[in-house]
Amino acid sequence: MCASGAFFAEGPGYRLRAFTLDDVPALAAFSEDENYWRFLSHGPRSPEQVHSFIETAMKTSQIPDGKERWWAVVDPHADVLIGTANLKQIGDAEDCFGSVGCSLAPTSQGRGLGPILGWDVIALAFDRFGFGKVECTCAEHNERSVHIMRHTVGLTYEGIRVTVGDGPRNPWPVHVFSLTENEFRTKQNPTDREG
Ligand SMILES: CC(C)(COP(=O)(O)OP(=O)(O)OC[C@H]1O[C@@H](n2cnc3c(N)ncnc32)[C@H](O)[C@@H]1OP(=O)(O)O)[C@@H](O)C(=O)NCCC(=O)NCCS
Repeated sequence: MCASGAFFAEGPGYRLRAFTLDDVPALAAFSEDENYWRFLSHGPRSPEQVHSFIETAMKTSQIPDGKERWWAVVDPHADVLIGTANLKQIGDAEDCFGSVGCSLAPTSQGRGLGPILGWDVIALAFDRFGFGKVECTCAEHNERSVHIMRHTVGLTYEGIRVTVGDGPRNPWPVHVFSLTENEFRTKQNPTDREG
């Protein structure tokens, strides 16, 4: 993937920046909150697991042709961590296919930031990272994410996929949605719509 974890972006109500180990306490604080982990495949994380996650995210995001880019989502005024966002390459670089993910701290949920962030990271995938198609997944009963993916952003529903293996919450059924670059180019940013 092009562009490293040193890549910055911002939009209304958020800024994306590279993770640092200074983000561990803030992420650890909300990683144990059920309103954060309930719909995430890894479940609750201890402070030690959060430290290890951020260390890995920092490393993988800086590999020049790496397959994952993780960002700290921060309040643009206070630089306080309010979530995470990621892009992952699926398959080989030539496939131009990837996944988009984002999650917000409980105190930043319910204010309309998720659709803005989700759209902007999808836009990054096409505009900056050169993907031709992306997928977004969400847990089976995550009605809010389903609403955003299906109705707000208008992704195409592909069906249910069950993740198996040694993950802590497997088997883990997720709804799979997707969008091609051509479809994306025909869409208006849903967070710009009036009414
Ligand atoms: C899921 C998440 C990204 C949504 O972002 P958000 O900013 O909290 O979203 P909001 O609550 O402001 O709601 C956005 C939309 O969902 C709708 N919505 C909210 N709760 C809903 C529910 N239970 N069922 C259906 N729709 C719902 C809102 O009405 C709003 O719709 P609109 O844009 O048509 O007006 C965020 O809450 C989050 O990160 N949650 C925790 C972890 C998680 O689930 N991560 C996502 C993994 S896919």
